[in-house]
Amino acid sequence: MTAARPGDRSGSSTPTLGGFTTGQLVRLCDVVGLEPADAEIYARVLIEALGPSAERPLDRPPPSESLLSDDHTPVEFSLSFLPDAVPTLRLLLEPGCGAHGPTQSGRTGLRVVREMAQRWDIATGQLDELEDLFFPASAEGPFALWCALELRPGGVPRVKVYLNPAASGQEHSAGTVREAMRRLGHPRAFASLPEADGYPYFALDLGDWDTPRAKVYLRHDDLSAAEAGRLPRTSPGHVGCAETEEFFRTAAGLGAGPGENAVLGGGRTQSCHAFTETASGLASGFTLYVPVRDSVGHDGEALARAEAVLERRGVDTAPLLRSLEAVTSRLPQDGVGLIAYLSLTHHRGRPPRVNAYISSEAYAVRPPVTRRPVGVTVKTSRTECAGEWM
Ligand code: TRP
Repeated sequence: MTAARPGDRSGSSTPTLGGFTTGQLVRLCDVVGLEPADAEIYARVLIEALGPSAERPLDRPPPSESLLSDDHTPVEFSLSFLPDAVPTLRLLLEPGCGAHGPTQSGRTGLRVVREMAQRWDIATGQLDELEDLFFPASAEGPFALWCALELRPGGVPRVKVYLNPAASGQEHSAGTVREAMRRLGHPRAFASLPEADGYPYFALDLGDWDTPRAKVYLRHDDLSAAEAGRLPRTSPGHVGCAETEEFFRTAAGLGAGPGENAVLGGGRTQSCHAFTETASGLASGFTLYVPVRDSVGHDGEALARAEAVLERRGVDTAPLLRSLEAVTSRLPQDGVGLIAYLSLTHHRGRPPRVNAYISSEAYAVRPPVTRRPVGVTVKTSRTECAGEWM
């Protein structure tokens, strides 16, 4: 029997969601040098976390309209890069993807995370502490719980949980985030955050981390590179971060023409502020997420931006290329969205990391765009006009 090519659905029977995504996962594990035995363990973890949805044939619609990825696949991969190291592979998934609505989805998500915690002997005290805030009796959407696994050698992952600050209503998002931070021992955190257009996620590291983080995600509509550089709040007096500014320019494609006033719109640019200690009242980590797919015509361009960001930091780009080939047999220029986001993380006392988010595309490939994408506009002092593109 010959192994099916990545993304190939031409075999005799329709693949299932679990079969398709675990195939991608096992090939990605090989790219980052994880042992086949570990890959097998992680594939089983993925199947169990997806529950009955894992058995769903791909010719049926996605289990729900999951927000986790553009085509509603409830799974996304990412690679985290440092110079002179093999990248770390991470897996983001929605355990409650088969549920009817956010209340039930949240219950399933909590159950699955608690099962994982039991299995790997991880404490869930901080999550328990926040349960009433993020899992009300009648939860609002658009999601309830996502879980990310950092796949380490040895078959025991590090676990992160993503919660919805709007679970008790969009209008309570800010208050929910503030109260969650207060309960976790960060009473000054909320006031230290920069201005934002929304609070899309709240996240917790569970278990065996050197410094477990509580993370607040902010949404920034119409962000310029200069504004991006001023978002980090990791040092007193918020000195601007030139590296963040330059990263944003490259990843968002603002470098070449449109000038100082160019902004990235589209409503998906986000920052993450990670809190680990309470003494300073400041965040100890900062990540900027650039939805690269919103400002490119196809993934060939997204890949070029990812390569530019990596090469600038002396990171080998070969594993990224091999990872794309591990998830799909399509060519980068034949679609857009395979590389969903690029992000840059600074954490006090650690070297910066570049992260690339890779879509599964289990259900759909977005066709390349031949007109100007919505993402980039140029704002001048008086008028707003479309930026040059292609
Ligand atoms: N797909 C969602 C979004 O675009 C959630 C998401 C998946 C996300 N991966 C991400 C958000 C990485 C930020 C960074 O917002």
